[in-house]
Amino acid sequence: MTGKHKITNFSKSDIYRNKIHKLIPGGAHTYSKGDDQFPTLSPAAISRGKGVFIWDLDNNKYLDCSMGLTSVSLGHAFEPVVDAVKKELSNGVNFQRPSHLEMEMAERFLEIVPQHDMIKFAKTGSIVTSAAVKLARAFTNKKLVAFPSDHPFYSYDDWFIGTTDCNKGVPSEISEMSVTFKSCNLDSLKQLFEKYPNQIACVITEPEKNTCSNCNCGSSPETFLKEAIKLSHKYGALFIIDEMVSGFKASFPGAITKYDLKPDMTTWGKGIANGFSFCALTGTKQIMELGGILNKGEEKVFLISTTHGGETHALTAGLATIDFFQNNNVIEHNQEIGDLFLSKSLELINKLGMINYIDILSCNWLPTLNFKDNSGVISSAFRTLIMQEMFARGVFFQGYFCPSFSHTPEHVNLIINALSESLIVYKEALENGIEKYLIGDEAKPVFRKYL
Ligand SMILES: Cc1ncc(COP(=O)(O)O)c(C=O)c1O
Repeated sequence: MTGKHKITNFSKSDIYRNKIHKLIPGGAHTYSKGDDQFPTLSPAAISRGKGVFIWDLDNNKYLDCSMGLTSVSLGHAFEPVVDAVKKELSNGVNFQRPSHLEMEMAERFLEIVPQHDMIKFAKTGSIVTSAAVKLARAFTNKKLVAFPSDHPFYSYDDWFIGTTDCNKGVPSEISEMSVTFKSCNLDSLKQLFEKYPNQIACVITEPEKNTCSNCNCGSSPETFLKEAIKLSHKYGALFIIDEMVSGFKASFPGAITKYDLKPDMTTWGKGIANGFSFCALTGTKQIMELGGILNKGEEKVFLISTTHGGETHALTAGLATIDFFQNNNVIEHNQEIGDLFLSKSLELINKLGMINYIDILSCNWLPTLNFKDNSGVISSAFRTLIMQEMFARGVFFQGYFCPSFSHTPEHVNLIINALSESLIVYKEALENGIEKYLIGDEAKPVFRKYL
């Protein structure tokens, strides 16, 4: 895979890249998968995946570190999940009344989230975070939603996107109903409650991030979250924890288990169905039942309501994923692989004398390397160069590694070998100028104002 032949043929990818933007705005169905996030010398689309490997249109094979935006927690086309899905497909996928699997999933999911009494399913993370916000507004009769200004993403819906630079199409009246505080900073949250008395319906935050491992905020996620829940309740707001990324990674089922937290609602997605489109909102009865239809005479809240919300194959994928996590030490395995990657990359970076140019975020469920330029500033151009060099060596690496149950120590060795060769090029680029090494443009921020 490394040290032998390099991947240089992207001819079918180039044809795809040239055509796709005429057909699909953005060329993809999340901006994170778009061409502007990758170097010129990169696969434009993936034709298949198995275990930890993916193949592009030119049949180039890559060891995958990104795992479907971190949604594939067990491995691509993972047999216990795929077999269960195949079996269920022959029973049909969508009916005019709910499938019996909806009850099974509700019971199974709530068993692993004993903090909560009720659950709603959806196909995307944005739907469940937006549903949580809507319920909070309905429950509290308040308008504002608060979230950390330094967290990248909570939803593609207007309440979140309106606060980013990429807010065209969102009326300012909507953006003004979202307010932000500094993550892990209780004072900053308190100031927000004091600035908008009796107006904040909810606080939504991720419980912990890969950056927490390197942060000097002086606050542990556990302490902050426990205090922030109390503070929010004191000011009459609900507290929502978004486990989209941390769920089935930081712990099983998530950081709320690890830190023994009881938020009013929690949102789940990504790794919970091994890449299938199954997301969930869990919450306490008092709040969730606002979306119900039994309380005669009460005003109805139109909660998540979508034709494909209960598709049986996605529920089956979710059930098979939960089964596998419960019967195997997946979290332990994945975090051990993450630890191995961290220790080996630290050893390599030290050996090459590059510690001043690479920050290692030592989070074992999502280890990440931040690449810097000559002046020690985190650099998109240098991260793009690393992608280019890693892709050439058959490793799909964008700066982070999402360990799955299919990754083994041998796979970590392959990643480190590719990294070792790529860092030599990086070193040369630091000395001689990156323009001599990076082909094409650097990757661009997703939330930029102008194209
Ligand atoms: C923390 C967080 N919340 C919500 C979402 C939205 O999920 P989806 O892309 O499934 O809509 C994401 C997606 O990256 C996320 O990272």
